[in-house]
Amino acid sequence: MSEFYLRPLTRPDLPAVLEMERAILDEPITMVTMERELENPLALYLVACPGSADGLVLDSPEPILGYLGVWFIVDEAHIISVAVWPEARRQGVASALVLAALLVAIDRHATMMTLEVRASNVAAQALYAKFGFRKLGVRRGYYPDNHEDAWLLTVDGLGEQGFRERLEAQAPAS
Ligand SMILES: CC(C)(COP(=O)(O)OP(=O)(O)OC[C@H]1O[C@@H](n2cnc3c(N)ncnc32)[C@H](O)[C@@H]1OP(=O)(O)O)[C@@H](O)C(=O)NCCC(=O)NCCS
Repeated sequence: MSEFYLRPLTRPDLPAVLEMERAILDEPITMVTMERELENPLALYLVACPGSADGLVLDSPEPILGYLGVWFIVDEAHIISVAVWPEARRQGVASALVLAALLVAIDRHATMMTLEVRASNVAAQALYAKFGFRKLGVRRGYYPDNHEDAWLLTVDGLGEQGFRERLEAQAPAS
């Protein structure tokens, strides 16, 4: 995979997102929930697609490499989900999605971003640490499938001077 681009998720992407969810997540989201999320004014979903945004797209619907969902509630942005196909991992796809979500959160005047991550998910924890997320607490037995603890992670100061500049400095050169 040489390049990819991000865009908002649209209805034709739903089967591809659900296929990925079922393949890699312990608690995949359902079509009903995703349909509802598309109508949710507090939610934003982004997908990463192979190629470049101005390239000719021959596949319809487009294949997706990964996706991210985030809710905006008053001054808090909360990441609902991030997932990348195994074949597309360690190439910066999730980083690009999280970076984009943080930049949108700043534009929407959020002051903090939060999320829950499994205590055992060291890959995701390393991803979030790159963006300054810190462990705020533990939700004991949070995940219904195996009663694993969730770590509540947060990064604050989104509105502070210099935060956006620091983030943009992390963006890969285009
Ligand atoms: C976690 C996940 C989204 C990362 O996606 P990705 O596109 O591979 O992430 P990136 O390539 O942007 O990696 C960014 C950083 O995260 C960390 N990271 C990612 N995968 C890692 C792994 N397997 N082990 C250790 N660190 C890892 C590294 O610091 C990496 O930077 P580096 O490649 O320069 O070392 C992906 O592994 C995934 O979809 N996992 C299953 C779903 C999931 O756990 N989602 C998170 C729920 S909270």
